[in-house]
Amino acid sequence: MAELAAGRHEFSPYKGRRKVTVVGAGNVGATCALELARRDYLEVVLVDIVENLPQGKALDLNQMGAVAGFEPRIVGSNGYEETAGSDAVVITAGRPRAPGMTRDDLVTTNERIVGSVTREAATQSPDAVLIVVSNPLDAMCHVAKNVSGWPKERVFGMAGILDTARFRTFVAWETGASVKDVQTMVLGGHGDQMVPVVSATTVGGVPLTQLVARERIDAMVERTAKGGGEIVELLGTSAWYAPGAAAAQMVDAILLDEKRVLPCTALLEGEYGIDGLYMGVPVRLGSGGIEEIVELELSDDERRALERSAAAVRDVVGVLTS
Ligand code: LAC
Repeated sequence: MAELAAGRHEFSPYKGRRKVTVVGAGNVGATCALELARRDYLEVVLVDIVENLPQGKALDLNQMGAVAGFEPRIVGSNGYEETAGSDAVVITAGRPRAPGMTRDDLVTTNERIVGSVTREAATQSPDAVLIVVSNPLDAMCHVAKNVSGWPKERVFGMAGILDTARFRTFVAWETGASVKDVQTMVLGGHGDQMVPVVSATTVGGVPLTQLVARERIDAMVERTAKGGGEIVELLGTSAWYAPGAAAAQMVDAILLDEKRVLPCTALLEGEYGIDGLYMGVPVRLGSGGIEEIVELELSDDERRALERSAAAVRDVVGVLTS
């Protein structure tokens, strides 16, 4: 009981909470802020350059707390002073994809936006971790790393959890299993060359290849790789519920020091035979940010697919101006 009481006290508003900044109050940023607020252990600062937008969304979210049962601790701001001393900064700012646009078409516009956001946020919170969500994701991680100059353990991106969530959903539908029992990993760049690792996919511990015919698996792999585009075609803009929730899961893993192994976009320096490139791989996430890059055994086909994905990422990174 005493321990329980101490735990509650630690998170009480009167002692101050850990702080997370979410930059970009659009669909992804607001969803991430909502997911974080619902956890009820954080102060959340929502930043956007559009006047009144973060303030309005923060007010609405705070009022939601009275219904959903969390403390109203969300602040909306057009500047960065409020973000000072954040433990984590989630960067969702930038243009989303429009129909017919690839993630990579966004590179020049979003390079400028992510660069300036990183500069401001890093100045206010020099000890934070930076979680990049803006597209094209792998290239934007390079921008955040270059601009902040921070160690790779504290600068990384969210894509793999989203891509893995898509593959898990399709596998659950195909097999009739609960999505909770589908384990898998999607590696590589967050583009159409991403690599769902079929050899690491199990349903309740049973390998997927024993449950589903190869053509059906190939179709799910293909749908996963194009999963972002499928939603852009339907909605006219990028997805936000799964991306926002995925970024919040990374915040939990770090601030609660969960040591979870999750697919994230990390700077590879020789792992998986790739050097000097941000790509999606399984990492252990804890209070130190990326505490380890986990190397899976891949089949020859998967390794070749990963190399093709790396080449696609290098092409986009090559378009960056700095
Ligand atoms: C997607 C966009 C956000 O995959 O990249 O939905």
